[in-house]
Amino acid sequence: MAKRSSARDAESRGARGSSGKARRGGARSARGSSGKAKRSSARGASKAPGRAGDDRRDFDPRVVAFACNWCSYPAADAAGINKMQYPPNARIIRVMCAGRVHPAFVLKALELGADGVLVSGCHFADCHYLFGAKRAAEQFEKAARLVSLLGLEAERVRFEQISAAEAPKFVRVMQEFVEDLRRLGPSPLGRARDEDLHLPGVVGEERT
Ligand code: FES
Repeated sequence: MAKRSSARDAESRGARGSSGKARRGGARSARGSSGKAKRSSARGASKAPGRAGDDRRDFDPRVVAFACNWCSYPAADAAGINKMQYPPNARIIRVMCAGRVHPAFVLKALELGADGVLVSGCHFADCHYLFGAKRAAEQFEKAARLVSLLGLEAERVRFEQISAAEAPKFVRVMQEFVEDLRRLGPSPLGRARDEDLHLPGVVGEERT
């Protein structure tokens, strides 16, 4: 049974630190989502979800989506308000302009366990900061090259231009991206993080 929430809900849940209360396993809309988080995927069904088992049909990818405040974020919101269903796999991070998304942000998201990263901004002519959308495209190119250098699949990162009026496009992009990631399986970086690496969690803690 699909459950829904708006982009704003998704952001606020992410801001609370992805404490596990975020709902997974259903689609979202603007209404009726707050608080009743539940997971219905394989990720939620095991202790190391989506990593240990390689049944990719059940793999529930973790997506970090950087969305521009003026276009893609409202598109996500509109999709929710209009009850368009899309996979709830993304933690949406609102940025004032997609040009703000430095390649390091993309790499950090992957390092922290994202299986894929979406950067979504305005169409070139619509950017509120004139050259920000072009800068976003350039920055993304750099990020994509670094991702390839790391040996990751190019499909793990995606750049899109989605205006505020293109909620259906946002839905389609999310559906396609999650399907692509499902086909690829869990990110090797995420698996390394879960199984092998000890990352310092607080300032002053040292890696052993
Ligand atoms: Fe949206 Fe610049 S304001 S990409």
